[in-house]
Amino acid sequence: MRISAPDLNPEQTYRLMSGIVVPRPIAWISSLNAHGQVNLAPFSCYTFVSNTPPMIGVNIGRKAGIRKDTANNIVTHGHFVVNIGDETLLDAIHMSAEEHPPEVSEAELLGLSVLPGEAIATPRIAEAPISLECRFHNATPYGDTGAEFYVGEVLVFHIRDGLLQDGKIDTTQLRPICRIGGPNYASLGPIVTKRAIRQTAKTVMARDST
Ligand SMILES: Cc1cc2nc3c(=O)[nH]c(=O)nc-3n(C[C@H](O)[C@H](O)[C@H](O)COP(=O)(O)O)c2cc1C
Repeated sequence: MRISAPDLNPEQTYRLMSGIVVPRPIAWISSLNAHGQVNLAPFSCYTFVSNTPPMIGVNIGRKAGIRKDTANNIVTHGHFVVNIGDETLLDAIHMSAEEHPPEVSEAELLGLSVLPGEAIATPRIAEAPISLECRFHNATPYGDTGAEFYVGEVLVFHIRDGLLQDGKIDTTQLRPICRIGGPNYASLGPIVTKRAIRQTAKTVMARDST
């Protein structure tokens, strides 16, 4: 089977790519709306882009050309929280993708509790085992549908007690979920451990060197 990319419309391309780029972790983003309420939505086009300072990136699409509430809130306030849900939060994560007017708080609708931010004004989701308080860094547009890649600098890591072992997250205990194609999710399968491959140490470079 061969598919020529320019023959596909945006929906067909999305359907194809979201089944190819799998499994995807989920950034469950809380942000503040104009009324100071907590907006909450899941985003699986998500990764980290820098270690020092720690930075993450999320691709946020548009709804028929209009920016999603999360993107608007990030641009308006300059901060947001990436919460990481576990298997127990799957239904809430999925339901928080429902489209609501900007003044509706999905966190409130879903009966989730929030905790105040420490470094930023955006609250985090209390039920989430991990939350990253982020300061908005920049957004870069890609393609023809108005999608933008939002990058944020992590200022504070909140990690549930017991999840951190020797500086590393105990993934088995975290029980993360991931998105695959369609309204489908998966949890961790068996973990296979291999010999660690030695890597040259990461260092901080001078700002003007490449
Ligand atoms: C698991 C999951 C992952 C999603 N990932 C993305 C994504 O990466 N980018 C995106 O624009 N929308 C994504 N969506 C759709 C948004 O969550 C949805 O458009 C939501 O209504 C946006 O809410 P907001 O308008 O409050 O920002 C995803 C939905 C689900 C259920």
